[in-house]
Amino acid sequence: MNTVLAELHDKARAALDPVHYDYYAGGAGEEVVLGENEAAFRRLALLPRVLRGAATRDLGVDLPGGHLGMPLLVAPTAFHRLAHPDGELATARAVAAAGTVLVSGMAATVAIGEVVAAARAVDPAASVWFQLYPQTDDDVTACLVRRAEDAGCAAVVVTADSPVFGRHRRDAEHGFHDLPPGLAAENMRDLPGGPLGGTLDIGMSPTVSWRHLDLLRELTSLPLWLKGVLHPEDAVLAVDHRVAGIVVSNHGGRQSDLAPAAVEALPAVVDAVEGRVPVVLDGGVRGGGDVAVALALGAAAVGVGRPVLWGLAADGEAGVARVLDALRDEFDHVLALCGGRGLADLTRDLVVTRGTGV
Ligand code: FNR
Repeated sequence: MNTVLAELHDKARAALDPVHYDYYAGGAGEEVVLGENEAAFRRLALLPRVLRGAATRDLGVDLPGGHLGMPLLVAPTAFHRLAHPDGELATARAVAAAGTVLVSGMAATVAIGEVVAAARAVDPAASVWFQLYPQTDDDVTACLVRRAEDAGCAAVVVTADSPVFGRHRRDAEHGFHDLPPGLAAENMRDLPGGPLGGTLDIGMSPTVSWRHLDLLRELTSLPLWLKGVLHPEDAVLAVDHRVAGIVVSNHGGRQSDLAPAAVEALPAVVDAVEGRVPVVLDGGVRGGGDVAVALALGAAAVGVGRPVLWGLAADGEAGVARVLDALRDEFDHVLALCGGRGLADLTRDLVVTRGTGV
């Protein structure tokens, strides 16, 4: 793990209520996938190319929904005010200052309009995307999409891997099911059909299907990303359903504990998509080297989840800024050491599996 991220993780663990630390840190089942997401990166190496120096490297990437100053965005994670009183406002400010995209969760503890306003106050051109779990009631889904549009979000990220809530042993052991008093899923207020949002499970639909993607395509002209894709055939179906991009993700090991490591599922999805839409990877990214490996395997960018929560818990906005700075700086350094003059130099032939020679 990047040393700055490790330091902030330790600080966050010390600062957080252990129940909330475990909510953020934990995974589903026996936490096999949680461990594998990071371990799989350790099994991969990058062959450096030599005599290909450059004074500086352009790290920017354009995606449907915004320009990223580095190939890294902030994945949606729930309930930032469990980590810090400023919650998603602090995260949004730091992410906007770093020139990248925050995917703000449907399960945010600050309403999406305030999150976007906080980002825009730092950078009027900042892009915030809205993460959505399709709801059982289409009217509720439509209402949430309208809230994202009214707030000025630049894309909607539809999370597909959660027909039911993952079973988290740590939360069960703590009896942690409800948000503490004073905190709520603010995007879920005053929805058609009554209140939602006091519990950790904020309404995942067991009947979620490709129909929901078609519904969303009708409801909004914003770019739609599909998050939680691991099977290459689902990636092809997603393209057929006119998504603007795909996020290869196992939800940070919080849903199926039988899933492969995210980075191991990435190449087959990239191959299936054949360049028709960009592919983002999240899960286990803990340093600039992980970013470089994911890009070499065909990702257009990566998402980071827990490291941002550790920065937020350790030091609010400044902590998130340090996480993003450290990842950008280390990625740029790794790229230089690999002979990369730009992102296009990160190609799949550079990736080898440790211990096998191939
Ligand atoms: C998440 N993630 C997530 N994803 C999503 O689509 N909607 C959500 O509400 C949440 N909530 C959430 C809470 C917490 C505490 C965590 C750690 C994660 C998953 C997230 O977007 C992303 O897929 C993973 O966090 C990526 O893995 P790393 O970077 O945490 O290893």
